[in-house]
Amino acid sequence: MRAFPTLGRQTAILGLGVHVPERVLGNAELERMVDTSDEWIVERTGIRERHVAEPGTASFELAVKAGREALDAAGVEPEAIDLVMVASSSPDAPFPAMACRVQECLGLVNAWAFDLLAACTGLLYELAIADAMIASGRARTALVIGAEVLSRILDWGDRSTCVLLGDAAGALVVGPARHGAGIRSWCLGADGRQWDLLVYGDHAHKGAYAVRDPDPHFKMNGRETYMFAVDNFARQALAVTEAAGLTVGDVDLFVPHQANRRIIESAARRAGIAMDRVVINIDRYGNTSTATIPLALRDAAAEGRLHPGDRILLASFGAGLTWAACLLDWE
Ligand SMILES: CC(C)(COP(=O)(O)OP(=O)(O)OC[C@H]1O[C@@H](n2cnc3c(N)ncnc32)[C@H](O)[C@@H]1OP(=O)(O)O)[C@@H](O)C(=O)NCCC(=O)NCCS
Repeated sequence: MRAFPTLGRQTAILGLGVHVPERVLGNAELERMVDTSDEWIVERTGIRERHVAEPGTASFELAVKAGREALDAAGVEPEAIDLVMVASSSPDAPFPAMACRVQECLGLVNAWAFDLLAACTGLLYELAIADAMIASGRARTALVIGAEVLSRILDWGDRSTCVLLGDAAGALVVGPARHGAGIRSWCLGADGRQWDLLVYGDHAHKGAYAVRDPDPHFKMNGRETYMFAVDNFARQALAVTEAAGLTVGDVDLFVPHQANRRIIESAARRAGIAMDRVVINIDRYGNTSTATIPLALRDAAAEGRLHPGDRILLASFGAGLTWAACLLDWE
């Protein structure tokens, strides 16, 4: 596992926005849809409810709402954005990029725009790109978004997957650090040998488009993914803190991708991070893929758990397999 300290101009998260669809789907309602129980879901995953978008909602529509909120929070004008990216595990179409739809809707007239596919890791990959572009002077301010309508790629008759995911979008405005050190280090990786653990449709070897699968759904090997995730989170935590010349003991708040409460607890234990320094909000949203980290940051801020200068560890993993972690000082 490789990790690197950041070089060049230091960047920071300047603003945060989220959008969560109104409709709540609780475990009790799922009990009436598939052979499951609130007890099983809470015990195995920590999820109590998730939000689902109205049928026909596009992922880019959620992205626009989260992006607008992030711009407002940062106090950044749309014209100031040089780069906009949207990551998603439930993109609307191969093209045009959702980022271009966001660009139009938010008036980001000076931005270049593209989408990124790295499953749940997408938002942190975007943040890494934004960090590199800003540090090297190719951009000054970036808008990075994760947006999901995962409810439309689920098989609602498959209890092993439909209870896990939820819809939401999250956005971060990234720019030169105004007050502190900003992003200190990165750990980025992938292991394509394990591509078949999380797939889209029954013909994943070729891909849903190549075989013209008319109705592909999210499928996964839960047990293997679980074991990978615990080990990966713990190793990333060690690698990325070491790259910054620190230890996990220096981390004030661990904000992990929310895939399963038990994964987070086991990884934190293995890495030596006490649970009072870990953000978990999966109970309210389920796994919202690329949106989990902005959502968790928003909730941590609302609960008064984020202070200027705090050392924050962000970490994610997802289909591919892919992973990313970064250590930053909160602005
Ligand atoms: C999916 C996950 C919660 C399943 O938990 P688990 O403890 O591994 O459960 P298993 O898959 O071993 O299944 C155990 C039993 O529960 C059953 N089960 C699965 N889903 C169920 C549900 N929603 N309700 C009730 N029972 C269920 C299984 O059929 C199985 O029954 P069996 O023993 O009679 O065959 C867990 O593996 C997980 O979280 N994996 C990682 C997922 C992840 O991170 N995905 C996103 C990546 S970004």
